[in-house]
Amino acid sequence: MTVISVIGTQWGDEGKGKVVDYLAGQMDYVARFNGGNNAGHTVMNEYGTFKIHLVPSGIFAQNTIGLIGGGVVIDPQVLLEEIDMLNEAGVGAEGRLWVSPRSHLIMPYHKILDGLYEKAKGAGATGTTLRGIGPVFADKVSYNGIRWSDFASEMFEARLKVQMELKNKIIVALGGEVLNYEKVRDTYGEYYARLRPYIRELFDIVQDGLKANKHFLLEQAMGTFLDTDWGTYPFATASTTIPSAASAGLGIPPRYITNVVGVTKAYTTRVGAGPLPTEIHDTASEVYKKFGETAATTGRTRRVGWLDLEIVRTAVQLSGISELCLTKLDILSGLAEIKVGTGYKLNGKSVRYADVDAYGLDEVEVDYKTVKGWTEDISQARSFDELPTQAKDYVKMIEDAAGAPVKWIGVGPERDATIRR
Ligand code: GDP
Ligand code: IMO
Ligand code: MG
Repeated sequence: MTVISVIGTQWGDEGKGKVVDYLAGQMDYVARFNGGNNAGHTVMNEYGTFKIHLVPSGIFAQNTIGLIGGGVVIDPQVLLEEIDMLNEAGVGAEGRLWVSPRSHLIMPYHKILDGLYEKAKGAGATGTTLRGIGPVFADKVSYNGIRWSDFASEMFEARLKVQMELKNKIIVALGGEVLNYEKVRDTYGEYYARLRPYIRELFDIVQDGLKANKHFLLEQAMGTFLDTDWGTYPFATASTTIPSAASAGLGIPPRYITNVVGVTKAYTTRVGAGPLPTEIHDTASEVYKKFGETAATTGRTRRVGWLDLEIVRTAVQLSGISELCLTKLDILSGLAEIKVGTGYKLNGKSVRYADVDAYGLDEVEVDYKTVKGWTEDISQARSFDELPTQAKDYVKMIEDAAGAPVKWIGVGPERDATIRR
């Protein structure tokens, strides 16, 4: 039995979708268990290119069963669109995708409140994806949430009615537009009718799978430094983004996790507000253009920076990462010199990530070292030996500093553009 947890070691978008799609061929189950459709995971394989928000990225491997655990918050419309997209592409999800009845529903008022709260915070806003994530998790932990199970127990209408009365009052106070109860009730009733074939309790599936020594791949959404507790709060997301989330969010007992794969981008990106110590501000520079990306969920431009080794080192320690997957090494090709953040100072004193909060992290001075780059296109390399010496040295520097071996290296967005060491 293997239970592999795949997590992002930075601020999300490390390339987790690609890695999960790559590893899924060997797996029986691939599961999501945190976050919601704030996630955008890109996969490129024989079926085409997909940006997936809710369905596990391993669903393309026909041998796998996809699980969406109770820890995931679901916008039903997004889930339906995704299932349709997969069916149209010939991937097929029915009969091998199961959604926990414990998962909470993102309601229209969650999305409206997300926008209103952000607006009210002005310059201090988090820069959320506006998918309703913060408000739905707030409702979950304050016993105001609505779950799929509420339909089966016929509690949906009564619970919705109370919530809509409450939420409409808040929306009006914040200058938003009132929602119509009947309309929301009917729309969600239709969603439930369509999604019903996918909803079932996962407890026995997970327990039977563990007993039968099956292979599980746990696909974390977001990155370590967006975690509610360990991230750069309040510039964070509303769920746990470290492996322990799989315990509550899927029902995997912690001691069954056999491997923790940390996905690390060869440089750093971040979407939304919050500290990014190694940020590159020169938008006209060659490196800024090279590192530039568009967010898979919102289409926003991602902020970019040099690789920050203190961030990766902290992630390795916090989550007990057993091996790293380094992604996007190909993007560094052509840079004469590459800067790497090796640590921080605050008021002249060395500090670690955990010593400061988000506002302190914004103030730190980064210690950099500069290493030599390489000119060769490495996108066709499929073995470590084929890489130029400087690229090999870059990889070795990361594993030495982070304290975990780099087992896979991404040299392109396609599934097979991967070096296994
Ligand atoms: P995720 O949220 O962690 O799944 O990452 P995203 O899909 O949001 O962003 C990662 C981006 O990098 C996507 O556009 C991927 O197609 C792309 N990508 C992933 N790995 C590699 C790689 O090794 N090389 C290149 N060039 N692109 C990659
Ligand atoms: P994947 O899984 C990058 C960021 C948002 C914002 C903060 C809070 O694709 O790596 P939220 O909508 O969650 O309340 O926004 O978190 N964020 C992500 N950034 N990748 C993601 O997911 C993200 N999910 C949320 O940009 O800064
Ligand atoms: Mg993403």
